[in-house]
Amino acid sequence: MTDQATNASWGGRFSEPTDAFVARYTASVDFDQRMYRQDIQGSIAHAKMLCKVGVLTAQERDDIIRGLEEVRIEIERGEFEWSVALEDVHMNIEAALTKKIGITGKKLHTGRSRNDQVATDIRLYLRDEIDVISDELTRLQQGLVGLAEQQADTIMPGFTHLQTAQPVTFGHHLLAWNAMLERDFARLQDCRKRVNQMPLGAAALAGTTYPIDRFYTAELLGFEGPTENSLDSVSDRDFAIEFTSAASLIMMHMSRFSEELVLWASAQFRFVDLPDRFCTGSSIMPQKKNPDVPELVRGKTGRVYGHMIALLTLMKSQPLAYNKDNQEDKEPLFDTVDTLRDSLRAFADMVPHLQPNKASMREAAMRGFSTATDLADYVVRKGIPFRDAHEIVGKAVGYGVQTGKDLSEMTLEELQQFSAEITADVFDVLTLEGSVAARDHIGGTAPNQVRAAAARAQAALAQR
Ligand code: ARG
Repeated sequence: MTDQATNASWGGRFSEPTDAFVARYTASVDFDQRMYRQDIQGSIAHAKMLCKVGVLTAQERDDIIRGLEEVRIEIERGEFEWSVALEDVHMNIEAALTKKIGITGKKLHTGRSRNDQVATDIRLYLRDEIDVISDELTRLQQGLVGLAEQQADTIMPGFTHLQTAQPVTFGHHLLAWNAMLERDFARLQDCRKRVNQMPLGAAALAGTTYPIDRFYTAELLGFEGPTENSLDSVSDRDFAIEFTSAASLIMMHMSRFSEELVLWASAQFRFVDLPDRFCTGSSIMPQKKNPDVPELVRGKTGRVYGHMIALLTLMKSQPLAYNKDNQEDKEPLFDTVDTLRDSLRAFADMVPHLQPNKASMREAAMRGFSTATDLADYVVRKGIPFRDAHEIVGKAVGYGVQTGKDLSEMTLEELQQFSAEITADVFDVLTLEGSVAARDHIGGTAPNQVRAAAARAQAALAQR
C-alpha cells in the first residue's frame, strides 16, 4: 500500500490534503478490493454501453477494456499496488487504468458514480457467492439423502425433551435435517432474485443526463433488469440483510445438526463416529477425539447472527439516498459469506463419512420404553379408550422400571397384570421393527416411507 497526500479523483475543490489518519479511517480498499473482479466486470459493461449509445468511440471502448483486463491480471498475480489514498477498489482500479491508457481512462466514469458502481459490485459479488454457497448446500444435501437411503432400516431412539420418546429410523432423522436445508435452499434462491437487479445508471442518486441504455448494461451483466428507482438503488442494502438472514437460518439449522453430532459422538451416546480427519486430539488427555468441526459450526453461528443485526442497524433510520454509512456493509457481508460457505463445505465433506453405530442406537432405543405408545395404541385397538390405555401402559412402565425390564422383555402373564385384553400378538407391536413399520404414511418413519422420501429428495436435488 502506498500513501499519497491528495486525491486526484475529487480534490478539485479542496484547499488542503486529507489528514493522513482520516484517509485511513475513511478508506475501504483494505476490504473492498475483494470485489475487484466484479468492479472490472461492471466497468467493462458500462464502457460497452457508453459506446453503444455514442458517448465513447469504439477505439476508446477497446482501450478501456484492454486496460481493465491488464489491471485484472496484475491483481490476480499479486503485482497490483493498492493505495489507501485512492480510498477504495473503484478509484484504485480507475487510476491504474488511466495510468495505462492515458486520458481515455478518465472517460470511463462518464454517466456513473461510485454510489451506483459500488451497489452494482456488491450485487454481482453476492450473486456469485450465492451460487457457490448453493452448490455447497446441494452437496451437503446429496450426502445426507444418500446416507438416509442406506440407513432407512437402522433403528435409533427418537427424542422429545431429549428423553427417549419413540423409535425412529436413522434415515428418517437424517431426512429431517435435509428438510430444513431444502427450505434454506429455497430461501437463498428467492433472495437471489432480489439481489439480481441492476442499480447501475442511478449514478450519484438522481440518474444521469447521458443517453444511457440500462437494459443493455443489465443484459451484459446477466441481471434480470435495471432497478426501478435511482434514489433507492444507491441507498438500500436490504438485499444484503436478506442474505444474512437466510444465512442465519442456515447456520441455526447447522448448529442444531452440530449439537446432535457432538452429543452422538460422545462416549455416553456412541451413536456415530466422526472420521478422524474431522476431529482433533487433546494435548493433555491422550484418549480424546474432539468433534471440533461441529463445535465450530455451532460456535460460528453467533457471528452470522451478529452480522445480520449489524446490517439491520446500519440501515436503520438512514435518510435517502447514499450515505457513507453504507461502506460498513461489506465486512459483515463478506464474513457471513466466508463463514457460511466454509461451514457448509466442512459438513458436505464430512457427512457422507459419518459412521453410524447401529448396535448402540438399537440398545438405546431398547432402553427407555420407546414402544410404550405402541402398547397404548394396541390396547386401544382392543377397545379400551386412549386415556385408560395411557394409564395401563404407565403402570406397566412403572413395573418395568422396578424390575429392570423393557416392555418387550416381560412375559405375557406379566403384561396381563395391567390389562386382560393383552394377548400373545402384543409382541408384534413391542418390537422396535414393529413400532417403526407401523408409522407407515407420508412423513412417517417406516423404512419404506423413508426410502420413498429419500427417492423424492434425490429427484428434487437432481432437478436443480
Ligand atoms: N467505498 C464506498 C462504499 O463502499 C464507495 C462509494 C463512495 N461514494 C461516495 N460518494 N463517497 O460505499
